Amino acid sequence: MSVAVLFEPVGTAVEVEPGRTLLEAARDAEISLGATCGGRGTCGKCQVRVLEGPLPPATAKERGALSEGALSEGWRLACQYEVTAAVKAEAFLVRSRAKGEAPPFERGFAFAPPVQRRLVEVPPPRLDQPTSDFGNLSSALSLDGGSQPRTVDFQVARELSEMLRAAEWKVVATLRGDELIGVRPSLNARISLGLAVDLGTTNIAAYLYRMDDASLLGVFSAPNPLSAYGADIISRLAYSSLSMDNRMELQHVLTKAVNILAGHATREQGCDVEDIDEMVVVGNSGMHHLFLGLPGHQLTRAPFVAALDMAVSVKARELGIGIARGGYVYMPPLVGGFVGSDLLAVALATRIDQRRGARLALDIGTNTELLLSVDGVLYCCSTASGPALEGSALRFGTVASPGSIDAVWSGAPKAAFECTTIDRRPATGICGSGIIDLLACLVRSGLVSRTGRLVSDSPLVLPDPAGNHHFVVAQAASTALGEDLTISQDEIRSLQLAKGAIRAGIDTLLAVHGLGVKDLDEFLVAGTFGNHLHVESAVAIGLYPDIPRDRIRQIGNAAGTGAVLQLLSEDERRVASELSRSITHLELSLQPGFRKCFARSQWFPEEGTS
Ligand code: FES
Repeated sequence: MSVAVLFEPVGTAVEVEPGRTLLEAARDAEISLGATCGGRGTCGKCQVRVLEGPLPPATAKERGALSEGALSEGWRLACQYEVTAAVKAEAFLVRSRAKGEAPPFERGFAFAPPVQRRLVEVPPPRLDQPTSDFGNLSSALSLDGGSQPRTVDFQVARELSEMLRAAEWKVVATLRGDELIGVRPSLNARISLGLAVDLGTTNIAAYLYRMDDASLLGVFSAPNPLSAYGADIISRLAYSSLSMDNRMELQHVLTKAVNILAGHATREQGCDVEDIDEMVVVGNSGMHHLFLGLPGHQLTRAPFVAALDMAVSVKARELGIGIARGGYVYMPPLVGGFVGSDLLAVALATRIDQRRGARLALDIGTNTELLLSVDGVLYCCSTASGPALEGSALRFGTVASPGSIDAVWSGAPKAAFECTTIDRRPATGICGSGIIDLLACLVRSGLVSRTGRLVSDSPLVLPDPAGNHHFVVAQAASTALGEDLTISQDEIRSLQLAKGAIRAGIDTLLAVHGLGVKDLDEFLVAGTFGNHLHVESAVAIGLYPDIPRDRIRQIGNAAGTGAVLQLLSEDERRVASELSRSITHLELSLQPGFRKCFARSQWFPEEGTS
């Protein structure tokens, strides 16, 4: 008799025969766990947390891949877990990042948080002055010169009278503008926190801050669970457009993921999600609409309009986000088409509009966005580059983690390439920077032609009768996979499509304004992926323009920085809103030369012509 397996946060259920593994169940449910070793228990990628159901003792392989803490929290390897009874498992791995992974602010800003917690002593009401409890609290708050609440979150209002009396009239009030959004007993007061979230198509990044002194507490990331509904944003919007149930299903999956991230982030700091008073969420227009549960159909059809593009503050509970009871989620404005609040955040973080010359900022992702400043006038576009460059579309592609090949170089001509892995572990896969290096080595060594064809006369190329030859990147003995780590002709083709889409976006955006890459005074690369690429490799494959290297600058996750600025400063929110109105959006697919440019950009450049 089959048993039920439920995967969270996606909420997909499948029936499997007892004895099958959770990895097999995930495959049945079409949930990708990034299992690069194919289920041998060596890559450590298929981590899941058992929420309900039997939790067997950890196997030796699980003890090798998971910390004691993770094992005791219920984490196991899906490929080692044999299903014997109904089980609910969380397939959503939150990673805590080094604080250094929060990119530094490129400029100063005025700290002006939208929320404040203030200690206040409230005079009890008297018979000769029977003012309401809210009225008394409001007056008391005005006495210290701070802002005075004129309205109150209704759920807070329901608790206010009992709270004031139980706390003997000494409370900590949380204010957002003129709204009272929280009241706690003063003895129970904790620090006000804020969370800035960059909702990427493939990954979600979150930055936890103290709202009283703007100090960073932690940086976190997790894969975007909507990948289960399609790697690209168009597939997800198509699914959500089929019915209201579908739309709300995706919204629910996404908010559940953000809740798990927020829970992990606060737990790690010994805090509670209720300590988060404010959240800022940025993303491309598609992710923005899916997160808010807005219709996305019209985004995918000409003239590609948003349902809503201005800044909105939404009660977190209305979205299913579990932070402080009266807390808000602030969604900055969108720019146009698929260019959303993430690129606006890049514009805010860099302020390239404040410098003369031609400057281009590139935020590489599954949906790559470009921002051009010509003497301070801003233009933008987006291009569907897909997930291939980040590794998702390759059999051995993986996120950057211990064991991933992160750098590849060629020693001598015709010799096997050399590579390093993160933490010097046996190779478990290849991540974005390794993939770009590998392509550059293949092109430079002549193993891949300008058109992208893998030449078949090398001993390192495994022939395939169907023409899908494979190049051996690392032989089985040096990997943890028990087999050769390879890249195929078809995978090289998908990488060409991705890099061609980005490069065509760069060249077309410049050409529309009468510029070429040589005119660029600065080429800024934002995003986690772009930040880890080796510039020479990116130039060698034609992804980046071949301009003096001192004009190319990697600036980290500038979208995250722009989100943080809007978390910590109302002034920055105002600047971002003004910027959003000043950026002209260009629809690439409507530009006459774009198709030709895209076809040409898929080729690899001859040296010095990129
Ligand atoms: S698939 Fe489970 S460890 Fe690799």
